[in-house]
Amino acid sequence: MASATFTVQQDTALTNSHISLNVAQTASLRSQLKSQRGILNSNNIKALCSQYAVSEDSLLQGLVPLASEFSVAPVSLFHVGAIVKALDENGDIHFYFGANVEFNHQALSLVVHAEQSAINNAWLNGAKKILKIAISDAPCGYCRQFMNELADAKEFDILLPNQQFTLAELLPHSFGPTDLGNEFSLFNPKPQLAKFNLDGLDETFARFALNAYVPYSQNFCAVKIVTFNDGDFYGSYAENAAYSPSLSPLQSALSQFFLAGLSFNESVVKGITLLETKGQENQAGVAKAVLASFSNLPALEIISAPLKE
Ligand code: THU
Ligand code: ZN
Repeated sequence: MASATFTVQQDTALTNSHISLNVAQTASLRSQLKSQRGILNSNNIKALCSQYAVSEDSLLQGLVPLASEFSVAPVSLFHVGAIVKALDENGDIHFYFGANVEFNHQALSLVVHAEQSAINNAWLNGAKKILKIAISDAPCGYCRQFMNELADAKEFDILLPNQQFTLAELLPHSFGPTDLGNEFSLFNPKPQLAKFNLDGLDETFARFALNAYVPYSQNFCAVKIVTFNDGDFYGSYAENAAYSPSLSPLQSALSQFFLAGLSFNESVVKGITLLETKGQENQAGVAKAVLASFSNLPALEIISAPLKE
């Protein structure tokens, strides 16, 4: 078992039908993306559009190959990239990057797809309305189902390198939250009034757990990855009406971690903690399975906290 490393060449120029950057310009954008953890804000987007004389959507589609570089795909060596264009609560546009993450020597079904990674990045970091999702390859059936859980599922555009679709075109006669009597959706969750009843709980960690989208299991839960020198990374549980495409909190946090361009090993990672709702726990097994793909990591710490209204 080796620690996950990036296998894509990272000294290349970014040139495609939408945008053309030389090697130095591409390198600078790569390091900006790593330090900003896979997010470009509206000032960054405006500056890049004027610097490279491209429209916002050409920038969006042109940068998809850079998103693919954040992929960790030791099994398939197939690097998928996705970028969500979304508005925050002030109506400002952001680009949220995403890439697939695979786990060596574990079930293939544990993979995080690039579309999930980009949507998760947007969701965790304050996006309120998704406008477009640009992807390097056609979204698989599982990702179409994952996207069908979004509040904007009927509105946003799905951009492939040379085609554009709506989700209704890609997923006709769909199954979704309302089939289970759930009127809420990812990005439009049921207001959560309860709090964790446990003294000394890290407030940010508790907020990520309470922001989990868990209409089907009620297990408000999150994962925190603490690093020695690169800050903390959080992930929240995002459930799906079809169950299988749900994104576990560990997958959510790991996807955020890899968007910072870090390697998941014992010299970077100081601690990994799972916080679950007491009485509804269901994440320890899958978290351990994902972590078993890596060696020499600190042991997973698990906290179960009861909720109080
Ligand atoms: N993959 C995605 O990231 N998105 C898709 O919709 C198609 C498939 C990834 C999953 C896996 O890491 C690799 O591509 C091969 O299926
Ligand atoms: Zn997929």
